[in-house]
Amino acid sequence: MKLFDVYPLYNITPVNAKGIHVYDEKGTEYLDLYGGHAVISIGHSHPYYVKSIQDQVAKLGFYSNAIQNPLQEELAQKLGELSGCVDYNLFLCNSGAEANENALKVASFVTNKSRVIAFKNSFHGRTSAAVAATDNPKINAPLNQQQEVTFIELGDLETVKSELQKGGVCTVIIEFIQGVGGLDESTQEFYEQLSNLCKKHDAFLIADEVQSGYGRTGDFFAFQKYNVTPDIISIAKGMGNGFPIGGILLHPNIEAKHGMLGTTFGGNHLACSAGIAVLNVLKDESLIQNAKKTGALLSEELKAIPQVKKLKGRGLMLGLEFDFPIKELRSKLLFEDQIFTGSTSNPNLLRILPPLCITIDDFKPFVEALKKHLS
Ligand SMILES: Cc1ncc(COP(=O)(O)O)c(C=O)c1O
Repeated sequence: MKLFDVYPLYNITPVNAKGIHVYDEKGTEYLDLYGGHAVISIGHSHPYYVKSIQDQVAKLGFYSNAIQNPLQEELAQKLGELSGCVDYNLFLCNSGAEANENALKVASFVTNKSRVIAFKNSFHGRTSAAVAATDNPKINAPLNQQQEVTFIELGDLETVKSELQKGGVCTVIIEFIQGVGGLDESTQEFYEQLSNLCKKHDAFLIADEVQSGYGRTGDFFAFQKYNVTPDIISIAKGMGNGFPIGGILLHPNIEAKHGMLGTTFGGNHLACSAGIAVLNVLKDESLIQNAKKTGALLSEELKAIPQVKKLKGRGLMLGLEFDFPIKELRSKLLFEDQIFTGSTSNPNLLRILPPLCITIDDFKPFVEALKKHLS
């Protein structure tokens, strides 16, 4: 059997990794400023994380959601404490798309409505309603196009207002900092007014924190910079440091009913042990504070490079905008300097999503390589 060929691949074969570095089969060291797409939060192969998973799989790797699983409660309690969202309730699943799928479904169940408002350049995943709320016609099959989604320019409050007034909207789903779309963020006024409008029109506000959550921006959640209370918060990438786990945090006003949501694998013992280990390390090693501090220091250095026309994002979720496409620069960084970086749907934007344990000194090879290629 061959693989279904859907990914354009770099000719690099990582075989192990440690902290902020990845190694290929020849032992070549790569600096990981991409974090496997914002997934590696506490660093590759963190010894405490590895031991937690090893110990758990030796005891009990999986049993279904038909039995008591105290690990889910421990994860929920620790997540509540570290995120500050203590009153929310947690539903566990396996990926970002699945988290958003469940969030959209709950919004529709509770409000008994079905229209969705999403934003231009958004990315919410590739499953049914999540992909319909993603602004990319290329990945939307005719089956997905049956959903009623209205895409609005980020920051355009007037159009949001008039669409909500038309009625039938169950939710507004938003990334407070867009990831795949290119690190765009609107104003405090926009987000706070958006939240008020949702309340007024009985529409849920879903904060998609799949990429921006778990400390990546220097706050546990990107929305926490603003005075907003989302009805649902979706999480995934940084949550398991590579172990597939996702979830939604549901506001205490949302009543759970048996059978409303469900999954075979979500919240299994092994996934919970990975998730608990991540939360313990984030807390014990002050990695969220590190993301804020290191991100601020790096931003100063990057802003001083004249070819960087705009620096977008916060903490360790940064985008360097140039006035030329970055494809070649990204390839040079990878093949000449062994540095992984990311791209976005904005062809001029280089994306930085490193593990949150990185220090400002670790960025030296990147800043030097960047200056070399730009001069
Ligand atoms: C903001 C956001 N939401 C949802 C997703 C989908 O997550 P997954 O690929 O785990 O389904 C992504 C993935 O890049 C994302 O960036």
